[in-house]
This record gives sequence, structure tokens and C-alpha cells, in this order.
Amino acid sequence: MSGLDRKRPSPILSPSLLSSDFSRLGEELEALKDAGLEWVHWDVMDGMFVPNITLGPPIIKKARKRSDLFFDVHLMIEKPERYLEEFADAGSDLLVVHAEASLHLERTISEIKRLGMKAGVALNPHTPLDHVHYLLPELDLVLIMTVNPGFGGQSFIEFTKEKIRDLAQEVARRSADTIIQVDGGVTAENAGELVSLGADCLVSGSAFFGHPPYAERHQTFRRAMDMGAGIAV
Ligand code: DX5
Ligand code: ZN
Repeated sequence: MSGLDRKRPSPILSPSLLSSDFSRLGEELEALKDAGLEWVHWDVMDGMFVPNITLGPPIIKKARKRSDLFFDVHLMIEKPERYLEEFADAGSDLLVVHAEASLHLERTISEIKRLGMKAGVALNPHTPLDHVHYLLPELDLVLIMTVNPGFGGQSFIEFTKEKIRDLAQEVARRSADTIIQVDGGVTAENAGELVSLGADCLVSGSAFFGHPPYAERHQTFRRAMDMGAGIAV
């Protein structure tokens, strides 16, 4: 299973299940695997931190039995520290919590790692990068939200490009291994630019699932991302 132990030369694509057909979740996971994907992104929403409500540990746990994809779990919930064990037990590989939702963030991150998962912090579009600067050596991943979290299919917020570039510089300055993930309004058209700005991992919901077959869609993203990374295609 692909982990996060080192930066990979080729950027990662993590399709967001929020835009998949939840009535056929098992089949969707198998179709992603068949299309050559290694990661899948789960959007957990509580109706408090964000206006929407989606899914929780029981569904992830059932899906874990059917899939060996890398489960990238994005918690858009208040006080995520209340549920870390449940998400570990469900089979999450990576748990990403919002800086805005967890008061004692360092403690939350340590606990995620103690439970055997990779740990990430997400930042809303307007949240300054300083919130994660001192934590970078502890973080496997930082998620830059490029829309306000809560819904799929929203438009990319342009000013977040500067944030991706600034974070990439800070990660390099600190010689950290932290993966930079970008989520919200990612399309095959802007994927190359986002990677060239410093993104290592792109999440895509509507622009991925809305264009089957998945193998072809994956290749379209792959070509754009590899070009953005300066990898010959
Ligand atoms: C939004 C979620 C995203 C969402 C992205 O709150 O965190 O993962 O599914 O959807 P698109 O790619 O359609 O913007
Ligand atoms: Zn997400």
C-alpha cells in the first residue's frame, strides 16, 4: 500500500467519494482500483463544522473489508479528538483534522500517530499558514482547502494558489517531508498548475467522478499532473 513515508516523484491523485454513487460504494472502490488509483478520499462532515452531513466510521469500516486502497480521511467535524479511535478502528490510513476545529492541535496529531495512522492538518482558505509552521516536522500532510469545505462542485478560490506556493517554500526551508494536498475545485485543467505551484497530492470529486470511464479520467489527470511536476510524459 502506498504510504507517505517519502515524497514521491509522481504526484498522487485522491478521488473524493463525495461525488461517487454511494448506493454502489463497494463497486466504486473496486472501479477505482481497476483504474489504477492508489488513494481514495473520504469526506466526513458533521453538520456543525460544515453545513453538510455525510458519513462516519461504520461505513468506512465496512468499505475497508472490500478495498485495500489507501484511505485518506478528511474530517470536517468539530473537536475531532473525540473520534480518533473510532476512525483508527475503521481502518483509516491517514486522518486529516482541521486546525480550526481542534484547540490542542499538537496533542490531536500525536494521538493520531499513536493510534498507528498518518496525520494531517487541513486549513480553510482564509486560515494563515502559521497555524501549521511549527508543527510541520510532525505532519505527514497539510491539506490546503481551495474552496470553503462542505460541498462538492464549488469553484476554485484563486488566492489559495499563493498559499500553496508559500507552503511549498516553507516545507523546503524546514527540509520537512510533509506532503502538500489540495482539495476543492480541482480539475484536469488546473491540475498541472497546482502541481507546479507545489502540490504533491490532488483531491478531485466532481471533475473526476463526473467523467467516466475512470481509467481514462485517471490518465488525463496523470498526464496533467506529471507535466506540472516536470516529469516527461
Ligand atoms: C469539500 C470536500 C472535497 C470535495 C471536493 O468540502 O472536502 O473533498 O469533495 O469536491 P470537488 O472536487 O467537486 O470540488
Ligand atoms: Zn475533502
